[in-house]
Amino acid sequence: MSGEEAPARQQQEPAEEKTENPPTEEPPSEEAQEGEPSPAEEPADEPAAATPDKAPVAPEEEVFSYRALFLTGYGGYDKVKLQMKKGKPSLKSAEVLVRVKACGLNFAELLGRQGLYELLPSPPVTPGMECSGVIEAIGEEVTDRKVGDRVLVLSRHGLWQEVVVVPASQTFIMPESMSFEEAAALPINYLTAYIMLFEMANVRAGQSILIHMAAGGVGIAATQLCQLLEDVTVFGTASASKHETISQGGVTHPIDYRTRDYAEEIRKISPKGLDVVLDPLGGSDTQKAFSLLKPMGTLIVFGAANCVTGQKKNLLAVAKTWYNQFTINTLRLMHANKAVCGFHLGYLGDEEELITQTMTRLLELYTQGKIKPRIDSTYHFEQVGDAMRRMHERNNIGKVILLPEPKKEEEKPESNPVPAETDKKEEEKDENKMETSTEEVKREEN
Ligand SMILES: NC(=O)c1ccc[n+]([C@@H]2O[C@H](COP(=O)([O-])OP(=O)(O)OC[C@H]3O[C@@H](n4cnc5c(N)ncnc54)[C@H](OP(=O)(O)O)[C@@H]3O)[C@@H](O)[C@H]2O)c1
Repeated sequence: MSGEEAPARQQQEPAEEKTENPPTEEPPSEEAQEGEPSPAEEPADEPAAATPDKAPVAPEEEVFSYRALFLTGYGGYDKVKLQMKKGKPSLKSAEVLVRVKACGLNFAELLGRQGLYELLPSPPVTPGMECSGVIEAIGEEVTDRKVGDRVLVLSRHGLWQEVVVVPASQTFIMPESMSFEEAAALPINYLTAYIMLFEMANVRAGQSILIHMAAGGVGIAATQLCQLLEDVTVFGTASASKHETISQGGVTHPIDYRTRDYAEEIRKISPKGLDVVLDPLGGSDTQKAFSLLKPMGTLIVFGAANCVTGQKKNLLAVAKTWYNQFTINTLRLMHANKAVCGFHLGYLGDEEELITQTMTRLLELYTQGKIKPRIDSTYHFEQVGDAMRRMHERNNIGKVILLPEPKKEEEKPESNPVPAETDKKEEEKDENKMETSTEEVKREEN
């Protein structure tokens, strides 16, 4: 049963024992009834003691519950499950509590589900590196945020839940005109694209650049940011059905990498090669990227998407990507007059100043109308498997968003229709469809 077909089910009787506070990453053993009003919405100032007319009311900290997604083990879509967490998270002095409205889905979470993303702790764990929402409480030392602020949030993981507690420094005030979906779509894709283009590659007016996965989240962000400069030639690889959209977004030469050798196509148009290549693919594509550079050109390696061929981990693809990894000695590099860089936002966590400055710049650019995240589709937490499927099957143009709020009956996922170019051979369509549940998550046996 797919997540879309299967609203979360109640599996167990309400908890009798006291819930823990703060909640841990351990999935709770009991869960609240789906569809009932959240206990968090009950008046907080109810007396806790029994009165002659009323049953005892538990303190808010104990009855507080919220929806959270858990990665329960490595594998297919069914490894991500919807749970109810109980107990109000406690707040340290420099932290804020955010009621989450929308979350971003990133390629790293597809890798994480397959056990290929080293920055995601072992399951059970809540994934989620970016979200947006409204601040509901602030720690006593927080002076630059207030209750009611609309914020976007960055973290290494743990944001795919209805309520998150994060350091205030990891939140950024949303521009007024920005929707929660846009705010959840912006941080990872645009920080990655901006820092690579303007801090590492130092791309300049008149230059040429190759953007792979040009219709994806980072690809669209990078293409938009290139438009800040005059006369930049953007080569973008993407499935053919997406070419019209990416051309409108600023890709000068869209290339269907599925039916053509993109390196040959680029050489036809730009025989001398390129100034910059952004490589999220890895393996043999990195060698191609290096060969495509002009002297003084810059290659930035920032992903290994070639490891992923479908829902389940493909050991052959992982081994092939690893085996074909590009290596070069420094003498050859010197003779080539080229720069090879690596970029990984996840390892830039300590560079708070760089992240804050770049986010500030990106939010300015948004307010000036110079960048705008493109939302491909929105899925409720129950449908996380379908959301992941959309990316695995290469159907998205732009960002896939997850919504914590429960799906209403008969509601279809909202998406910009795209002619699917699914490589059906890659996917086992009918097996392992997402089955969300609110049942107790058992630790997976390896
Ligand atoms: N280092 C960092 O800090 C960092 C940060 C963010 C993202 N990244 C990397 O950037 C890349 C893009 O990430 P994203 O989150 O923006 O995802 P995304 O681009 O939205 O990914 C999905 C799209 O990529 C294309 N694609 C190419 N190879 C694919 C594959 N093996 N499996 C599925 N789709 C594939 C497909 O479009 P077409 O059909 O048009 O090819 C698909 O629709 C990933 O490699 C990711 O790991 C790195």
